[in-house]
Amino acid sequence: ELGYFTYDPGFMSTASCRSDITFIDGEKGILMYRGYPIEQLAEHSTYLETCYLLLYGELPTATELETFTRIIQKHSMPHQAIRRFYDGFRHDAHPMAIMVGVFGALSAFFHDSTDVHNPHHREIAAHRMISKMPTIAAWSYKYAIGQPFLYPDNELGYSENFLRMMFGVPTERYEPNPIFAKALDLILILHADHEQNASTSTVRLSGSSEANPFAAVSAGIASLWGPLHGGANEKVVRMLEDIVESGQKVEHFVDRAKDKDDPFRLMGFGHRVYKNYDPRAKIIRKMCHELLRQMGAENQPMFEVAMELERIAMEDDYFKERKLYPNVDFYSGLILRAMGIPLNMFTAIFALARIVGWNAHWCEMMQDPESRIGRPRQLYTGAAPRDYVPIEKR
Ligand code: SDX
Repeated sequence: ELGYFTYDPGFMSTASCRSDITFIDGEKGILMYRGYPIEQLAEHSTYLETCYLLLYGELPTATELETFTRIIQKHSMPHQAIRRFYDGFRHDAHPMAIMVGVFGALSAFFHDSTDVHNPHHREIAAHRMISKMPTIAAWSYKYAIGQPFLYPDNELGYSENFLRMMFGVPTERYEPNPIFAKALDLILILHADHEQNASTSTVRLSGSSEANPFAAVSAGIASLWGPLHGGANEKVVRMLEDIVESGQKVEHFVDRAKDKDDPFRLMGFGHRVYKNYDPRAKIIRKMCHELLRQMGAENQPMFEVAMELERIAMEDDYFKERKLYPNVDFYSGLILRAMGIPLNMFTAIFALARIVGWNAHWCEMMQDPESRIGRPRQLYTGAAPRDYVPIEKR
């Protein structure tokens, strides 16, 4: 018996840690943040309220949410200092490369929130990373396209502010499309945390050596970038574009995904834990269809191919036997594409969402008096003991 759930001893021996933050049941397709079902948070909450819940364990009162929002809305960064830092990158650098670099160096800007044993420092570091991430992400994009940085507008909501810093220009007033802000806030809620996924486990392992939180999160951003993890939503759209450009039938690509000799996989399908439908995919699928309908984009070739791929894969025995369903990235990639978000910013938006999950887990680990440095062990399968051979005898 561990809290609300009971685990079989076999599973307990594989668990890397204990956590109160997020619960996943892969067989039943259940996802809960601090006990609240993701479906209810998606319908009633906002990303900032979800951030408060993940960090503090309870839904905030109106006063608590107002205070938290005012803290997080301090999105601006020391422009000159950051600008000089960015100038070290090539303009064609991938925004995720820039974000890994900037986060790795943030401790140089924020000396008063790097003492990992000081709960107040930990809270400030978490607030700063949630607060500065939209700015760092948007400025990484602006730097990559050679456009001027736009300062945040603290009157706007979290998602609107990010869209304005991404797409706005100093010479014109930017009016975010309300459905875009709503769709982005939903994407951020659904991607905010997901238990011990690769990037969160990376943050925990890096942070367990008492590295500063900014460096630990930088390692998490690097892990998320991989195409099998957070980079999947970018790969989903590239895959759909390739299918459209090939002029070949969708069935041809489904057959390739089943061919063991072909490395091609259907991006956006399958999940290590959900061996049933990803509950986030069910939620975001509705928003995806609503957005495409509102934009009159349903008949665009790429979206038509996506819907046909979804239908064929869901009926195919190979996929059904392996319980390979569309995951959250299959639909988030379509939504971000429909919103005109550039492909190389898709994973940056996943990082924008997951910044709170990484910090919640890092804080949970560092406040645990029994927390120790992570040290995974291995099964040695190398050579038996042998003596050194001088080079002239090799
Ligand atoms: C995320 O961990 C998290 O929580 C991650 C995440 C989060 O919120 O943090 O949910 C976010 O990363 C979602 C996943 C995004 N990645 C993709 O969409 C990439 C495509 N998916 C696959 O690469 C794969 O499904 C994984 C990596 C997601 C899961 O891999 P698993 O569980 O290790 O599955 P597997 O490699 O053991 O595959 C089992 C079988 C194999 O066939 P057999 O050897 O049994 O015959 O299913 C096949 C695989 O070949 N398979 C696929 C497939 N995924 C698995 N075949 C075709 N296309 C696919 N996408």
